[in-house]
Amino acid sequence: MELPYAEPYKIKMVESIKRSTKDQRLEWIKKAHYNLFNLSSENVFIDVLTDSGTGAMSDQQWAEMMVGDESYAGSSSFLKLKKQVKKITGFKYFLPTHQGRAAENVLFSAMVKEGDIVPGNSHFDTTKGHIEFRKATAVDCTIDEAFDTSVIHPFKGNVDLRKLETVFKNYPKEKIPFVILTITCNSAGGQPVSVKNTKEVSKLCKQYGVPLYFDAARFSENAYFIKKREKGFQDKTIKEIVKEVFSYGDGMTMSAKKDGLVNMGGFIALNNKEVFKQATVFNIMYEGFITYGGMNGRDMGALAVGLNESTEYNYLESRVEQVAYLGQKLVDYGVPVQQPFGGHAIFLDANKFVPTIPREEYRAQALAIELYIVGGIRGVEIGTVLADRDPFTRKNRYPDLELVRLAIPRRTYTNNHMDYIAATLKNIYDSREGAKSGYKIVDEAPIMRHFTVKFEKI
Ligand code: F0G
Repeated sequence: MELPYAEPYKIKMVESIKRSTKDQRLEWIKKAHYNLFNLSSENVFIDVLTDSGTGAMSDQQWAEMMVGDESYAGSSSFLKLKKQVKKITGFKYFLPTHQGRAAENVLFSAMVKEGDIVPGNSHFDTTKGHIEFRKATAVDCTIDEAFDTSVIHPFKGNVDLRKLETVFKNYPKEKIPFVILTITCNSAGGQPVSVKNTKEVSKLCKQYGVPLYFDAARFSENAYFIKKREKGFQDKTIKEIVKEVFSYGDGMTMSAKKDGLVNMGGFIALNNKEVFKQATVFNIMYEGFITYGGMNGRDMGALAVGLNESTEYNYLESRVEQVAYLGQKLVDYGVPVQQPFGGHAIFLDANKFVPTIPREEYRAQALAIELYIVGGIRGVEIGTVLADRDPFTRKNRYPDLELVRLAIPRRTYTNNHMDYIAATLKNIYDSREGAKSGYKIVDEAPIMRHFTVKFEKI
C-alpha cells in the first residue's frame, strides 16, 4: 500500500479558537455590516480569509527570533538573510522591505514611468495598483484556459506567448520596463507556471530586450507543482527547480508572508547593478536603511530559516496536498469549485453554487456571509465587490467569475478543520434552493471598496 503524506512536524504549542452559536454570528455579522473584514477574529472559528502572514513558524524560526540582531546597520540577521536569499534564488543583489507591496513600490519607483506598459500573467491587485498609480498599464497575457473553471490544464498560470509578442510588437522596448511573471498566479486561482513557459517567456523577453521579473510570493508552491506535473523534473529537488526558474529572470519581488513562512516581511532580489542602485534610494526613503528595510532583525532571521523550510519537499507536499484534500472533499460532495485546485486556496464557484441570487445582489459575497453564519468560517469574496466600479462610468464591473476564496494558512489547521469546512459547505449546498436574495451596498469607498464596504440584507 502506498503511504499517505504526513506533516513533517509535530505540534509544540497550540492557540485556542472559539466555537460560537449561529445566533451570535448572525448578530456579529450584522454589526460588521455584512463585511467579513470588519469581524473581530475572536468571533471566527476557522479563518481562511488569507494565507498571507497567517501561518505558523517553526521552533527553529522562533529560536532565530531570540538571537535577532537589532543593529541599525549591518546586523548579523540581515547578513544571514542576504546569504540565504542568494543561496535560494541565485540573484546577486538584495533589499529587504516590510512586505510584498512595499517591494513593488520600491522597485516600480525605480523602473515604471507614466505611459509604460507592464505585461504579465494576471497581475495581483497590489501589483496592478502600483503600476496604475504611476499612470502605466498592466496588460494581462495569461493563457485563455485560465479563465474557464471547467478546463483542466496543469499550468493555468502560463503566459500566452502570442499575446506577449503582440505587446512587444505594438510598443517600443523603452515603454516596457519589464515583464512580471507571478508564481503561482494568485489572481488565476493559485495556478502554477511551468519551467517550459518560463523559459519561453525569458527567450522572448531577451529577443525584444525587455527584462523579466518574478512576483515570487508563492515560488515554492510553484516549484512543487513543477516537480509533480512537468516532465523531466520528477527527480529534481525543490531547491534545484527554484534555482532554475529564477535563472531565467532578472529579479523578483517577494511577499515573505507567503512562502517565506513569516508573519511579516518582503524583499527585492535582482541582478542589475544600476537598478539596484536606484532602488536603494527609494528603499531608504520608503522602507528604512538598506540593511533592514522595514523589518526587525529577528524577523529577518526567521525569514532566513523560513526560506529554507518552505523549499523542502516534505513540507510542500503536506501543504499543497492539504489544500487539495479540502478541494477533493468538496468535489466529492458535488460542491462547485475551481479546478485544478490552487496551491494555497480553494475557490468556490458562486455562479454555479447560487445562480438563484441575482448578480446585482453580490452572490459570491452572499455565499461568503452564509459560510460564516452557518459555520463560523471566514473566506473572502473575489467577485463583483472586489472588481469594484468602472472608474469612468462608476457602474459595477461584473467579472466572468464570482468566487469565494478559502485560503489555507500554512502549518496552521489540521485536516479535521478541512473536514469541518467541507461538511459546512455541503450543508449549505444542500439547502441552496432557498437562497433567492443577496445584499445591497449602503456605503462604499471610491477605490478598493471591499475592505470597508457596508451592506444591508435584501
Ligand atoms: N503578490 C501576490 C501574488 C500576492 O498574493 C500578494 C498578497 C502580494 C503580491 C502583496 O504582498 O500582502 O505582502 O504586500 N496577497 C495577499 C492575499 C494579500 O491574500 O492573497 P503583501
